[in-house]
Amino acid sequence: MSIGEPKHAFPEWIIQIIVEHAGEFGRYPINDGTPELLNAIAGWIQRRYGVPLQLDRQIMALNGTREGLFNSVLALCPETSRGQQPAVLVPNPFYQVYAVAALAVGAEPVYVAATRKNGFLPDYGALPPELLDRTEIAYLCSPANPQGAVASREYWAELTQLAERHDFRIFADECYSELYRETPPTGALQVASEMGASPERVLIFHSLSKRSNLPGLRSGFVAGGSESITRLKQLRAYAGSPLSMPLQRVAERVWADEAHVDHNRALYVEKYQMADAILGDVPGYASPQAGFFLWLPVEDGEAATVKLWRETGVRVLPGAYLSREVDGVNPGQTYIRVAMVAPGDEMQRGLKKLRDCLYG
Ligand SMILES: Cc1ncc(COP(=O)(O)O)c(C=O)c1O
Repeated sequence: MSIGEPKHAFPEWIIQIIVEHAGEFGRYPINDGTPELLNAIAGWIQRRYGVPLQLDRQIMALNGTREGLFNSVLALCPETSRGQQPAVLVPNPFYQVYAVAALAVGAEPVYVAATRKNGFLPDYGALPPELLDRTEIAYLCSPANPQGAVASREYWAELTQLAERHDFRIFADECYSELYRETPPTGALQVASEMGASPERVLIFHSLSKRSNLPGLRSGFVAGGSESITRLKQLRAYAGSPLSMPLQRVAERVWADEAHVDHNRALYVEKYQMADAILGDVPGYASPQAGFFLWLPVEDGEAATVKLWRETGVRVLPGAYLSREVDGVNPGQTYIRVAMVAPGDEMQRGLKKLRDCLYG
């Protein structure tokens, strides 16, 4: 329950596709994605968000979102911003790649608390204008890892307006977008398009890892404005590692199928109902809107993790390991993260032990 590795079954039919296309392991893969894969991704974006994109200019296939979230900073963050060190805004807690990418280009990662008080989403608008003026990139993860918070249409619209006012880009990590309970989360590019904002403001990052239980396939995409995507393609043509052709064929078919995604989502919904039943009356418990984690309040996350492991053999992650201390406060300090990835019966046993041990 500590690592967020999806464990539900992936669609079995992908094996046949790999076999059928195995001969293509003998070819260098197409860097940006095969036209068929880009077409399947464009179709998915159109169905899911109602945004029409040019497949050859606005979408690039990725080897999982992680590399894209990192490489996009290399490709798009300038060395200076209005003569100063560029800033990269990072929600706190966060997926560690955001900070490493900022540090790799000599930018300043600015950690902005995403706590219960602000609905677990960072309030970038409250930052000093001088800081926003040298901001080049703002990361936002929605649905958020670890808290499962979902940015509303209004949140995205405000962030987009802020980005236009201070001239920065939004990197929207939406890799948990399909693991919602009832309502599909609104997308960042969808809102930018509805507002008539420039698509250059926003890059969205999506993955088959969580949606389709294929973390080992290493397949995702980035989409947004054609200028940004062109620069990313340039970097990737030299430094990137494209997905092999048979696996691009698989990804193409997986993006076109929703039946397995609906089934996957239903399994998580059942597990969250179970979590609500077992932990619902724990003070401060909030049922996450999406994703596959629980973000549980405790007195001290590290102490609780050790106690749980020693006394029950259940392993979770201390919240502080996902966040940074800012002004003496680490917003993850009083939380543990529980990955709800194991099968239902195993989760039930684990959650009951967790409840008895930590909240008994
Ligand atoms: C918030 C977040 N973003 C991105 C990733 C990267 O996933 P992948 O590279 O498999 O698409 C993860 C993986 O756990 C994640 O939790």
